Amino acid sequence: MGAHLAFKSRWHKTDEELCRHSMSFILHKAIRNDFFQSYLYLLERLPLVKLYALTSEMINGEMQFYARAKHFYREVPATEEGMMGDYIELSNTDIVSSREFLRKLVGGAGKAGTDCALDCGSGIGRVSKYVLLPVFKRVELVDMMENFLREAQNYLQGMGDRVEMYYCYSLKEFTPPLRKYDVIWIQWVSGYLTDKDLLEFFIRCQNGLKENGIIVLKDNVAREGCVLDPMDSSVIRDLHILRNLIEKSGLTILQAERQEGFPEQCVPVWTLAMKKDLGCS
Ligand SMILES: C[S@@+](CC[C@H](N)C(=O)[O-])C[C@H]1O[C@@H](n2cnc3c(N)ncnc32)[C@H](O)[C@@H]1O
Repeated sequence: MGAHLAFKSRWHKTDEELCRHSMSFILHKAIRNDFFQSYLYLLERLPLVKLYALTSEMINGEMQFYARAKHFYREVPATEEGMMGDYIELSNTDIVSSREFLRKLVGGAGKAGTDCALDCGSGIGRVSKYVLLPVFKRVELVDMMENFLREAQNYLQGMGDRVEMYYCYSLKEFTPPLRKYDVIWIQWVSGYLTDKDLLEFFIRCQNGLKENGIIVLKDNVAREGCVLDPMDSSVIRDLHILRNLIEKSGLTILQAERQEGFPEQCVPVWTLAMKKDLGCS
C-alpha cells in the first residue's frame, strides 16, 4: 500500500509536468498501466484487467465515487424523465430496439427461457414495464434507491403481481440468487461501478443464470478510453475496456448492436448479449 501511494503521488506530479505528446509521457503511461495490472494480480488475486488507472486515480477515491452517485440520485425525480436523465424523447426508440434485440435471444431451442428476468439498476422499472414484463412471466428489480423501488410499485400497477422481488441494494454488494434468471438485464447502470466491482458483479451474475441464461448490458460507450462524468459520478468506458472486463469475468459476447436512431451528438449506446463461457464453468 505504501508503495502504491508513493507511486500515485509521483504519477500525479509527472502527469502535470510532462508534455502529453512526448515519448516520456507515453512510456510513463505504459509503465503505469502495467504496474496497476500487476498490483491487482498480486494483491487482490484478480485476473489481469487493463485498468487504465481508472479506479485508483480518475475517480479520486472509491468511497467518494459511490457516495457522490447516491447524492446525485437523491435529487432525481422518480419518473421516466428522471430515469432518462432529461432525454425522455429517446425512451421510446430505446424500448423498441431493446424489445427487438431481446426477441432474437429468447424462447426457442437452445435460447434463453422466458420464465424470470432480473432488471439491474432498475430505477422505477421503465425497462421492466416496457421490455421485460411483456416477455417474462416473472420479473425482479434491484436498485440502490429505495424511493425508486417504492414508486415502481405504483408505476408497474396492473403487472405488479408478476414482480416477485424488489431488492434495495447497490450492485456492488448484490448477489443474484443462484440459477434463478433466464435474463439479467443491466441498463444504464454499469458506469456507476468501478472496473473491479463491475468485473465481480459479472462473475456473480453468471451464478444467477439458469441453463441457456444470458446477461444483457446496455449502456453508453465512450469513443476512446474511459471518461468520468463528475455530475452523476459515473464513468463511460469504451468497447475495448468493456470487452476486456466481460472476457475476464468468463463471459462470451453472443451479440452486439449499436443503438440506432439516437441523435448524432449523443454518446453511442451499445447493447451486448453475453453468455457463460462453457470452457470456464
Ligand atoms: C440512468 S438510471 C437508469 C434506470 C433504468 N435502468 C432505465 O434504463 O430506465 C440509473 C439507475 O441506476 C441506479 N444506480 C446507480 N448506481 C447504482 C448502484 N451502485 N447500484 C444499484 N443501482 C444503482 C440509480 O438509482 C438509477 O435508478
